[in-house]
This record gives sequence, structure tokens and C-alpha cells, in this order.
Amino acid sequence: MLSNVILVTGGAGFIGSNFVLDWVQGGFGKVINLDALTYAGNLENLAAIENDANHVFVKGDIGDRALVAKLLMEYQPDAILNFAAESHVDRSIHSPGDFIQTNVVGTFHLLEEVRSYWSNLADEEKLKFRFLHVSTDEVYGTLSLTDPAFTENNPYAPNSPYSASKAASDHLVRAYRHTYGLPVLTTNCSNNYGPYHFPEKLIPLCLLNAIAAKPLPIYGDGQQIRDWLYVKDHCSAIRRVLEAGQLGETYNVGGWNEKSNLDVVNILCEILDELKPRTDSASYKTQITFVKDRPGHDRRYAIDATKLGRELGWKPKETFETGIRKTVQWYLENQVWVKNVTSGEYRNWVTKQYT
Ligand code: NAD
Ligand code: TYD
Repeated sequence: MLSNVILVTGGAGFIGSNFVLDWVQGGFGKVINLDALTYAGNLENLAAIENDANHVFVKGDIGDRALVAKLLMEYQPDAILNFAAESHVDRSIHSPGDFIQTNVVGTFHLLEEVRSYWSNLADEEKLKFRFLHVSTDEVYGTLSLTDPAFTENNPYAPNSPYSASKAASDHLVRAYRHTYGLPVLTTNCSNNYGPYHFPEKLIPLCLLNAIAAKPLPIYGDGQQIRDWLYVKDHCSAIRRVLEAGQLGETYNVGGWNEKSNLDVVNILCEILDELKPRTDSASYKTQITFVKDRPGHDRRYAIDATKLGRELGWKPKETFETGIRKTVQWYLENQVWVKNVTSGEYRNWVTKQYT
């Protein structure tokens, strides 16, 4: 049984907003959406459900204990889904403190309030309650070309301030199960892409730079490998884990789509060459530019999602080829969203990172 009323944190960000849209528009129930609206949070992502009675947006921080306590008492959610985080590796290299604050300290405060709420529930509600923590494959560290993909049994070996802060939050969630019996679930997903992706990340950045006639910056030699999953498939995996996951378990989520960064950008350019050819008929590939590598850049991530398929019957709908085409089409059709998101703070970031 899927929970009816859920509290989602970070539901105005990339994955959170896709999840909230699917939940509300799919008729799964009501969402209380708690988001601090940092640079990465965008209410325009949620415009389609702005006036829907099943969506209540609350601007606030997961570390604001009084606010979280108030929301839990007022709405009595059956589940909390924690998407809220600082999520960009390059920003974590410039400003790690924000990552410790939200991802570690914020998750701790959230867990404390949830523990207090849960421990006072009646037995039947207690049994039904879930805390689902959304995490990343980056906690497992880096792989060589010949290593097998990450399973849930891989030891944690995070290499960036971002992945270290996510690893710390995963450990706290695990400890709250072990020590207090809190009914937790954790998902560790590979790189997502799709609609509403903030254009600081590789795919939307290169897509928008391509059509703006700007360079497509590839770090180092471009041979780093990531395992790509269409965001809607991540959302369906989270719903499935919420519905049927074993308490205290972690589930790897991935789409078996390993690609080098250079291959990803080349595919992107080929789709753009077809859907929106350059006026001079040259390929967008001519805009590819190799730039200085990211410090401590992880070479390869790959997710083994066998457990989620075997135990919960989940599988992704999209291949990389179908998902990336949908993504390019979405960005071409949503130029107002793009225009609004690429102003102000975004421009400051691009100047700081790429010049
Ligand atoms: P995002 O950066 O697009 O969105 C994060 C959201 O959290 C934003 O809306 C932001 O306003 C909000 N937020 C930040 N700090 C907050 C705070 N203190 N209190 C309340 N809200 C706050 O991130 P995303 O890509 O949507 O990622 C969502 C989650 O999924 C993260 O936990 C991330 O670690 C995880 N994840 C992301 C990917 C990926 O490829 N993007 C892959 C696997 C896991
Ligand atoms: P990113 O989208 O930042 O996700 P993550 O670091 O969480 O995997 O980056 C994906 C890959 O693309 C990563 O190997 C870094 C690389 N990359 C570039 O080559 N150029 C860029 O401008 C960016 C943002 C990323």
C-alpha cells in the first residue's frame, strides 16, 4: 500500500519536483512539500499543480525543528521522503560548509523531529509509517574500468565533500533504524537526467550552451563514466521502495546505462543536429571544448540494480536513447522556463566556475 499523505523535502528541486508532479497528477494522494528554495529550488517546476488541493507548498528548512514539528502535527503524514540536499559536486568543492549544514546537520534535525513524532504514534500508524531517504551512488566512491558495478554491499568510500556529506546522512539514517527502530528505507541512485534539471549539471548545461552557441565544457579527457537514469524512472523506483521495501534496507537504483561524458555530449549534439540544426549546418560537436579537470574527479560510477528488480520487480522504462531524446525535446519546448532559470545567481555561478 502506498502512503496517502506524504511530506516531501526538497520537492522544488530537480528530482523532488518530478516526484511531486507524478505523485499529485498520478492521483497517489496529498503532498506537503517542504523546500527552502535555495538557488536549486524553483516553484516554476510545480506550476502545473499550483492550485491543486493535493499539493501544499511550505517554504522552509529541514533543519528548522519547530517548523518540521508543526508540519508533522498538522498534517500527520504517513511517510517522509527526504530529497532536500545540496547536490552539485563542483559547488561542494567551492563551498563544502553548505553541504555539511544541509545534508548532515539538516538531515539529523529532520530525523530527530521524525523520531519524536513517530514514537508518539498509535501502534497501527507506527507500523504504517516510513522515512525514505533519497541518496546517491557517489557514496560508494569510484570504480576502475574492470570493477563490477556497485551493489548494496560495497563499502562506502566517498571522495568529494558532496558524497561525504551524503554518506554521513545515510549513516545517520541507518543508525536511527538500528538504535531507535525508526522505519527507514534508503535508495542510492545513479546520475539522473530529464525535465527541470538545473543547468549547472552536465546534460542541461551542454544542451543550453549548444543552442546559445557557447562552448560545451568537458572536464579532463572526457572519459569519466557515469550511469544515467531518466528521472521519471527514479521516481517510479522510489514509489516502489516506499510501497514494498523492507525496513532498514537500502536499494540501488540505476538504468544500466554507462556512458563516458564525451559520448553523452556527442549523443546530445547528434540529437540537436537533427531537431534544431545550426544555421550554418555545422554540427554542435564543433563547440566541444576540453577544460581543466575537476579536482578529485571520480573516474567511473556504475550501479547494479539487481536487488530492486529481483525483490521488488522494478525496472526502468527508458533507455538512454529514448530518455535523452525526450529531454532534449522538453528543453526545446520550455524556453520560458530556461530563460527564467538562467538568470541572476546562475550567471554568477557560471562565471565563477568556467572563467
Ligand atoms: P537539487 O539540487 O535539484 O534540489 C534540491 C532541493 O532541495 C532544492 O529544491 C533546494 O531548494 C532544496 N533544499 C536545499 N537545502 C534545503 C534545506 N536545508 N531545507 C529544505 N530544502 C532544501 O537536487 P536533485 O538533483 O533534485 O537531488 C535530490 C536528491 O536526490 C538529493 O538528495 C541528491 O543527493 C539525490 N540524488 C540526486 C541525483 C542526481 O543525479 N541529481 C542522483 C542520485 C541521488
Ligand atoms: P555532473 O552533472 O556535475 O554530475 P556528478 O558530478 O554528480 O556525476 O557531472 C557529470 C559528469 O560530467 C562528471 O564526470 C563531471 C562532468 N562534467 C563536465 O565534464 N563538464 C561540466 O561542465 C560539468 C558540469 C560536468
